[in-house]
Amino acid sequence: MSSLQKKFNIRSRDFIRAGEASISVQQFLKQMHIDPVLIRRIAICGYEGEMNVVMHGGDGLLCLEISTDKIILEISDKGPGIADIPKAMVKGFSTASDEHREMGFGAGMGLPNMDKNADEMSVESKEGSGTRVRMVFFV
Ligand SMILES: Nc1ncnc2c1ncn2[C@@H]1O[C@H](COP(=O)(O)OP(=O)(O)OP(=O)(O)O)[C@@H](O)[C@H]1O
Ligand SMILES: [Mg+2]
Repeated sequence: MSSLQKKFNIRSRDFIRAGEASISVQQFLKQMHIDPVLIRRIAICGYEGEMNVVMHGGDGLLCLEISTDKIILEISDKGPGIADIPKAMVKGFSTASDEHREMGFGAGMGLPNMDKNADEMSVESKEGSGTRVRMVFFV
């Protein structure tokens, strides 16, 4: 089965461009005439994942893969990684800095929101070498 792939770069700590990758994903899915309700779920996951890379990760990549039966969103970065993944997934857990909190982030709701909006989600991480979050959405 054929599938279509798109990749977008995410730059660590770049709050000026933060959110651009997820906006591009949203525009692309719209052009592909994907159901707006599904686009919204993917956009939420894309934005939360992108902001996590900007705030907590290192430079990263957002990969979108569209096939007839599913859409895969994979966000990976070469940052410090997550020491305790189950803990990071808990609602309200956050290591956001005061600076991040002043910008309105740090509720510790990003990963739980991604988990809620994706049909399947897996987080892989190795301390010191990065994080990969893979989400699957059934069309
Ligand atoms: N890409 C990443 N690299 C390293 N650590 C991460 C990454 N993504 C998440 N984390 C860790 O997991 C924690 C929880 O992430 P989550 O997105 O749920 O909350 P948050 O980003 O702290 O706050 P919010 O998303 O509500 O603004 C983060 O505070 C951080 O410690
Ligand atoms: Mg977050």
